[in-house]
Order: sequence, then C-alpha cells, then structure tokens
Amino acid sequence: MAFAANGALEARTADVELGRYLAAECLTCHRAPPGAIPNIFGLAEATFAEVIKAYRSNALANPVMHSIAGRLKDDEIEALAAYFAITKRP
Ligand code: HEC
Repeated sequence: MAFAANGALEARTADVELGRYLAAECLTCHRAPPGAIPNIFGLAEATFAEVIKAYRSNALANPVMHSIAGRLKDDEIEALAAYFAITKRP
C-alpha cells in the first residue's frame, strides 16, 4: 500500500514538473494581468484540460490558442493542468 501511494506521489510530482517546464511558453501571454488574456492560474484541473482540448479541436475557436493547443499531447495537457491548478500568478 505504502509503495503504491509513493508511486502515485512520484507520478504526480513528475506531472507538475513537466507542467512547470511547458508553462514557460504560456507565461509570455498569461503572466499579464487578466484582461484580454484570461487568468489561467488556479483553474480547476478538469476545467483546464477540457478548455485546452476544446481549443485543440477548435470546438472553442481561437486562432492563437488553437495553434498552441494543437502542439500539445494529452499527457502534456494533464501536466499543464496539474501545474497551473496549484500555482499562483507570479
Ligand atoms: C500568444 C499569447 C498566448 C500564449 C503564448 C498562450 N495563450 Fe492561452 N490564451 C491566450 C488568449 C488571447 C486567450 C483567450 C482566448 C479566447 O478569448 O478564447 C487564452 C486562453 C487560454 C485559456 C482559457 C482560459 C479561460 O478561462 O477562458 C487557457 C486554459 C489557456 N489559454 C492556456 C494556455 C496554455 C496552457 C498555454 C501554454 C501552453 C497558453 N495558454 C499560451 C493567449 C495565449
């Protein structure tokens, strides 16, 4: 049991670290005070992933986010969601 729990925690940490790495690109725009560019810090993980996938599929039409989301794989989206959910806007 303890091993399983540790494994889950390690996987989680890896997710957040990958998310932090991938987030560098996002900060160019999303570090700005929320206005035309919405705040994405502290968004619920599930919502975050849903929105990015909607941009990727163009269900939510936005040319900028469509091109960015189009380059992200599912596991990268999960990692970004995990990172932003627990991170405050700098
Ligand atoms: C070139 C600027 C730019 C970059 C870089 C960028 N975004 Fe965005 N993002 C936007 C804009 C503009 C919107 C608002 C689009 C709209 O009105 O639908 C947005 C919207 C979003 C939303 C929806 C927020 C909400 O509450 O509606 C999420 C989530 C998001 N971006 C995540 C990301 C992630 C993750 C990255 C990095 C992989 C990223 N963005 C990189 C400009 C950018």
